[in-house]
Amino acid sequence: MTHTFVIFGASGDLTSRKLIPALYNLHVKKRLPAGTRIVGFSRTEFSHEAWRESLAESTAAFVGKRFDAAVWADFASRIFYHAGDIGDAAAFTALAEFLNQLEGEGRTSRVYYLSTAPRFYGPACEHLGTAGLAEESNGPRRVVIEKPFGTDLATARALNKTVHLSFAEHQVYRIDHYLGKETVQNLMVLRFANAIFEPIWNRNFIDHVQITVAEEVDVGSRAGYYDTAGVMRDMIQNHLMQLLMVTAMEPPARYAADPVRDEKVKVLLSVRSKTPEDIAHDTVRGQYEGYLQAKGVAPGSRTATFAAIKLGIDNWRWQGVPFYLRSGKAMSCRTTQIVIQFREPPHMLFDKGPRTMAGANRLVIQVQPAEGIQLHFQTKVPDAGMKMRQTDLDFNYGKEFKGQMPEAYERLLLDAIEGDASLFARADEVEAAWNICDPILSTWDQADAPPLHPYEPGYWGPTASSDWMAAQNRNWFDACPVLR
Ligand code: BG6
Repeated sequence: MTHTFVIFGASGDLTSRKLIPALYNLHVKKRLPAGTRIVGFSRTEFSHEAWRESLAESTAAFVGKRFDAAVWADFASRIFYHAGDIGDAAAFTALAEFLNQLEGEGRTSRVYYLSTAPRFYGPACEHLGTAGLAEESNGPRRVVIEKPFGTDLATARALNKTVHLSFAEHQVYRIDHYLGKETVQNLMVLRFANAIFEPIWNRNFIDHVQITVAEEVDVGSRAGYYDTAGVMRDMIQNHLMQLLMVTAMEPPARYAADPVRDEKVKVLLSVRSKTPEDIAHDTVRGQYEGYLQAKGVAPGSRTATFAAIKLGIDNWRWQGVPFYLRSGKAMSCRTTQIVIQFREPPHMLFDKGPRTMAGANRLVIQVQPAEGIQLHFQTKVPDAGMKMRQTDLDFNYGKEFKGQMPEAYERLLLDAIEGDASLFARADEVEAAWNICDPILSTWDQADAPPLHPYEPGYWGPTASSDWMAAQNRNWFDACPVLR
């Protein structure tokens, strides 16, 4: 069987910045199945050769030293282009003819990658269906859909319905690039391939969990999009929810798409729902100073660029253990980390001075950058009576494994080509995530909404966020990663 990877939105940014470099890297590593073709589809007219040339330039810029002209020439011979308007049903009939001709006889699997503006996700799926392109008699047909998948529960449900008119759920791959990160996948290995963590990974030993995705960059040139999304839709509904699920899920029966996703969805279904009063207590939101001046932001916009949210999970493992989710733009540094904060020892024999929770054991999973894991624990300071200090066991990917970390898209594109949906979101998963975010978004929209705190760029969000944690006798683990 051969493979065809069709990119809709071929002239867009994501294609040149992520998709083609990832496919090129897979080709370099000889992972791309033999006979894989890549077909670009967008409105701009290009000859095959002109598109290849423009991609050569951008790929060289993105993959840096890995770019090799001879290897590229071999890779480029697999690349084709077909112009068409994604909003026009007839263009899909023409595309079907083009693909049939290109592929010739024999079975072929196809991936249709929707790297377009979100408003085209629904129409593209409909047109693919009408043109017979979703039909699987000559091999698998899969559609990959980028985020954002809807802008709230109602729109996500409607989009799922439209997609399902043409594609069955097993054909649908909703991408969240956080699941393509090595360190996120490793969280499952850490938990389920070691015997020492699972027995303590619960309410009996863990005080709370912090999931932080901090970005140093501000909204940059994406302000137009971002102002309609904000941190809840841009980061929390998808990336942070994925991290929450992988951290809190039960061990799946098998490592396969549905058993894994069944367990992930159960986490979201167990998240306690919130009344507007809960939301006033359990969330802090902020907007960095200067955001309103960014080009594309509506005058007086109330869009949150920072949010901290406390969630409870009502199940046997997690009852009473708060999960704090936090994300923001224009923060101190770029860091994604999951902090498992263990309880204090029940009785302290040594060094009885005033202590805080920060002295208790802590497992810090550094998702990026400085990928690694640290376990913090108390150690006796030599030659100082029974004085103690926190020290750590430190696992660092860079030190342990030579070579660059792969780009998240490499793994995900290959999985889509090979038909492994384990690291893609299922319809019910996306809807359950919206179901958690919707009430927060609508409460924040009310006239008497909790305040939107301004914060100075370059810090850990508004001071209200650390005050809020302090009022719960807890502290954020505010540490920028040490790059080694
Ligand atoms: C994207 C968001 O999904 O993720 C961006 O739209 C954000 O706003 C990006 O910057 C962060 O991804 P990463 O992999 O750099 O953490």
